[in-house]
Amino acid sequence: MCVAGREGCPALLLLLLLLLAGPAVSAPNPASPPRVPAPPRFNVSLDTAPELRWLPVLQHYDPDFLRAAMAQVIGERVPKWVQALVGELEHFLPQPYTFEIRGMCEALNLSTGDCLLINLAYEATAFCTSIVAQDSKGHIYHGRNLDYPFGNILRKLTMDVQFLKDGQIAFTGTTFIGYVGLWTGQNPHKFTVSGNERDKGWWWENAIAALFQRHSPVSWLLRTTLSESENFEAAVFKLAKTPIIADVYYIIGGTSPQEGVVITRNRGGPADIWPLDPLNGAWFRVETNYDHWRPAPKTDDRRTTAIKALNSTGQANLSLETLFKVLSVVPVYNNLTIYTTVMSAANPDKYTTKIRNLG
Ligand SMILES: *[C@@H]1O[C@H](CO)[C@@H](O)[C@H](O)[C@H]1NC(C)=O
Ligand SMILES: *[C@@H]1O[C@H](CO)[C@@H](O)[C@H](O)[C@H]1NC(C)=O
Ligand SMILES: *[C@@H]1O[C@H](CO)[C@@H](O)[C@H](O)[C@H]1NC(C)=O
Ligand SMILES: *[C@@H]1O[C@H](CO)[C@@H](O)[C@H](O)[C@H]1NC(C)=O
Ligand SMILES: *[C@@H]1O[C@H](CO)[C@@H](O)[C@H](O)[C@H]1NC(C)=O
Repeated sequence: MCVAGREGCPALLLLLLLLLAGPAVSAPNPASPPRVPAPPRFNVSLDTAPELRWLPVLQHYDPDFLRAAMAQVIGERVPKWVQALVGELEHFLPQPYTFEIRGMCEALNLSTGDCLLINLAYEATAFCTSIVAQDSKGHIYHGRNLDYPFGNILRKLTMDVQFLKDGQIAFTGTTFIGYVGLWTGQNPHKFTVSGNERDKGWWWENAIAALFQRHSPVSWLLRTTLSESENFEAAVFKLAKTPIIADVYYIIGGTSPQEGVVITRNRGGPADIWPLDPLNGAWFRVETNYDHWRPAPKTDDRRTTAIKALNSTGQANLSLETLFKVLSVVPVYNNLTIYTTVMSAANPDKYTTKIRNLG
């Protein structure tokens, strides 16, 4: 688990969220049934200029809430040398992301540099469980939990976004307002992707150096792949090979039998490719935040729980609903879980995100 102060844990986001958090929310009443509402779903048109395309979404949020926290944190908390570099860095970052960030920040009256830092600071912060699986009929399902501290703020900022090209849904993703990358998404009838943190320690020096070499932020590559890759194989290739600024696990599901894979990424390329192998009984792959060929630590073994729950579900009974139930078994589901998404690229209308832990 990511705890404040631990090496590799991005202090900036934690501090931002601490500032945003305000008074503690009241403890959930155990007698009341858990609420699992969907987050808002917005359209963002890629046919609109990048600087303008998020502004209609932004109107649904209180600018003071977003602005106050961001402005306060940046000056105090980001290393001065990083702040000094961010202006130059901007020219090395890929589009349309930088323009999108600039457009939102101008609307909020924040500097582009500050907003870039927030977008980069989220890198490698996602603690997660992702599952890709195939049922007895060959249908592919994909689910993920996103776990992170200070969810009482992030739950309010979570949204599903439909990215439109020519008025049609080109791809769908789940993210937080202001954060232009994606950790979860679907290209309809083609593939689904999720990203999980690979916790090998992370610090500004490595990421900044990689950015100057034009490596992509992890969540920007995930979104670019959703936007550009024509099919499952192309998505796997792009996510395996493209240089990125931090280690990560990418989990990908397709539309045809056997189209499911976990890619363990180093910055420069793949460390391991772990496909479904349903003909040999491997009808699911579970990835949390540890290399699959090593045992999960005893202190955080969400992996074994998920495997047991899938085993007892049975391949014949696999569906988006049963996958959601697997992702609801403690500690796969835990107090840090912010949202659960279940999806199946062959059935894109079934893309479902639920906000968790609302009490
Ligand atoms: C934006 O910030 C500038 C400088 O801090 C300030 O003068 C201006 O009034 C602000 N505008 C809005 C719309 O908040
Ligand atoms: C979002 O875009 C889709 C596809 O064009 C459309 O069917 C839907 O009505 C739009 N939703 C809103 C809220 O505008
Ligand atoms: C899940 O089922 C497989 C196949 O029967 C078995 O090898 C494995 O030990 C089971 N795992 C757990 C954690 O129950
Ligand atoms: C599937 O679920 C049904 C009831 O929902 C249960 O009777 C059956 O044993 C399950 N099948 C497997 C393979 O677990
Ligand atoms: C959340 O934490 C409380 C207190 O430690 C614990 O009783 C509860 O089971 C946890 N809930 C989940 C879903 O892990």
